[in-house]
Amino acid sequence: MIELKDVKKSFDGKPIIKGVSMVMEAGKCNLIIGASGSGKTVLTKCIVGLFKPDEGEILFENQNILQLEKKERKELRQQIGMLFQGSALFDSMTVEQNVMFPLDMFSNMSINEKKKRVNDVLARVNLKDSNKKLPAEISGGMKKRVGIARAIVLNPKYLFCDEPNSGLDPQTSLLIDKLIKEITEEYQMTTVVITHDMNSVMEIGDHIVYMYNGQKRWEGNNQEIIHSKDEMLNKFIFASQFLQDVKEMRMEEDKQKAK
Ligand SMILES: Nc1ncnc2c1ncn2[C@@H]1O[C@H](COP(=O)(O)OP(=O)(O)OP(=O)(O)O)[C@@H](O)[C@H]1O
Ligand SMILES: [Mg+2]
Repeated sequence: MIELKDVKKSFDGKPIIKGVSMVMEAGKCNLIIGASGSGKTVLTKCIVGLFKPDEGEILFENQNILQLEKKERKELRQQIGMLFQGSALFDSMTVEQNVMFPLDMFSNMSINEKKKRVNDVLARVNLKDSNKKLPAEISGGMKKRVGIARAIVLNPKYLFCDEPNSGLDPQTSLLIDKLIKEITEEYQMTTVVITHDMNSVMEIGDHIVYMYNGQKRWEGNNQEIIHSKDEMLNKFIFASQFLQDVKEMRMEEDKQKAK
């Protein structure tokens, strides 16, 4: 579980994160959504310790990351897996070497143990027989899988995914989303996904936080979002006429069911 209490962050005196509180539970996909510039990345960087907030608390299982000693901080950082935007694989390294990298950096495993672990996580993301390939030789969806495998190879308690679907077709996006949800539940990780993807919101949105102008404007799950009356949120998430129609249909259906 990760808890934020009144987190604030300014750059050059300009407030960017204006007092955000939230709880992200284990075993759930916690989504952060919001328009470009609303502060999603800055907030996420504060959570993982890449930025230092000016005020507030960030608690990982009640441990305030901002008050940890260097050594404890390092230990906590090793429990955080990150899938970077665009996968960010090392181009000159094979799939296997990419996934092994965190093990080389942070574990004392023997080479055989490392190979076994790499094969296990690659199998978990349904990527077999690609160990010796270079990133340039595999598709975008496969790259994301490698990125996910690398993010979970150290068995992290926390998983952060920055726009895991960008650049993927809708079907592949869905597969990636389902994979993230499955491993989140399987390993009871606290997963945080930054996304713009409407499909992701509806498919895996156990807990959705809508950021607007540096503040949390709405919070709920993928059922509640259908019924939200927040005008900004509705404009953002149900942007097209088509999606507005779907929202209204679903609201009507739920109304009938409730009768
Ligand atoms: N290092 C920085 N120094 C100064 N300002 C910054 C810095 N990083 C981000 N900002 C500002 O903070 C605001 C929020 O940026 P952020 O990257 O968090 O947006 P975002 O919600 O992630 O948008 P996007 O969806 O485009 O990725 C922007 O106005 C940006 O210019
Ligand atoms: Mg961003």
